[in-house]
Amino acid sequence: MKTRTQVVVIGAGPAGLLLGRLLDQAGVDAVILERRAPAYVLSRIRAGVLEPGAVETLHQAGAGTRLTAEGHTHRDCELTHGDDRLRIDFQTLIGAEVTVYGQTEVTRDLMAVHSGQTIYEAEEVTPQAFGTDRPFVTWRKDGTEHRIDCDFIAGCDGFHGASRAALPATAMTTYERIYPFGWLGLLVDRPPVADRLIYASHSRGFALCSQRSARRSRYYLQVPLTEQVADWSDDRFFDELGRRIPAAAAAALQTGPALEKSIAPLRSFVIEPLRFGRLFLAGDAAHIVPPTGAKGLNLAISDARTLAQALAEQLVEHSSAGIDAYSATALRRVWKAERFSWWMTRLLHTFPAEDGFDRRMQRAEFDYLAGSVHAQRSLAENYTGRF
Ligand code: APR
Ligand code: PHB
Repeated sequence: MKTRTQVVVIGAGPAGLLLGRLLDQAGVDAVILERRAPAYVLSRIRAGVLEPGAVETLHQAGAGTRLTAEGHTHRDCELTHGDDRLRIDFQTLIGAEVTVYGQTEVTRDLMAVHSGQTIYEAEEVTPQAFGTDRPFVTWRKDGTEHRIDCDFIAGCDGFHGASRAALPATAMTTYERIYPFGWLGLLVDRPPVADRLIYASHSRGFALCSQRSARRSRYYLQVPLTEQVADWSDDRFFDELGRRIPAAAAAALQTGPALEKSIAPLRSFVIEPLRFGRLFLAGDAAHIVPPTGAKGLNLAISDARTLAQALAEQLVEHSSAGIDAYSATALRRVWKAERFSWWMTRLLHTFPAEDGFDRRMQRAEFDYLAGSVHAQRSLAENYTGRF
């Protein structure tokens, strides 16, 4: 096992794997340390809407072959309010499309192309001395303590990772919104209800009709955080979904046994800055968006691209411009995605404390969108990541 590398990447989710791969390509030596086994990493089911910029980055990383073959390009999505439907045609509005391809598949493709060293099942990974010129990372595997020295550490270990936890609270500022509901998700091997995603606002709560392929669908229901998955039989889930989406869509709904069902809370979260001496944060380690805008994976990808370029500039060309600018550059995009995700969440969900006024505001915003090509272009720009 190596005792020295240029960059230690903590976490082998999309952010860490992509960063490792882009560093490899730039001729920078990197080692990835991941707490879980590969099978566990690949068992996590998460959103999968890719902006054109994210697709381009995955191609640059050499991880785009299956994405091109199996990803579905979507020229539009649909917003509904009760039975009223509004198609947002990204292609006509701004000449852009998104690609629907599961995050699990992105992770699998990145794992397949990565040629550097990845150490799985590394316990107690701890970034050390990143405030000095000689940072190092320690971990334990199979009962043995390990240490690797490096020039830089990249914390790509998600919201519950060790990197942010290693920072003194005084070194960062945290910005956060916790929403008073979660999303109950269900995966089913049945064709999607429509050939586009449907974001449904309903007085009973929000619902989303998404998809993984021509045969596999992913559905979500807004639920109170007190709900238990065990209380949601497949029948109850599909009944409730049918009530929240327009009647014509409900009539086309094909039900079946759930392959997976889980509840995820919704949160907006950002820490600033993203650099602490020789430690950088990227992806969910640094920020969380509610899933309504489908931005989480796209932000992880854009952070990894910006950070890879910055580290390569430093380690190959000996220019610090990129690493000095990383935090500000990444945060500009992060905050735009935070704003959009927060806006979509507020527009489409019911809030426990709201009264008739709030629901009227949502309706008025829906009507404004329906009547204004400018408002629709704004949504299209944000959704496709043309910030
Ligand atoms: N040590 C090593 N690895 C760790 C540790 C730790 N202490 N803690 C967490 N990890 C690993 C996790 O097991 C996971 O594989 O870090 C990885 C982080 O991956 P993600 O949570 O997928 O985060 P990221 O790569 O930033 O991707 C963000 O994930 O949550 C979604 O919506 C989000 O799509 C976005 C994407
Ligand atoms: C998903 O398919 O899981 C998905 C799609 C779009 C979203 C959120 C989740 O906005």
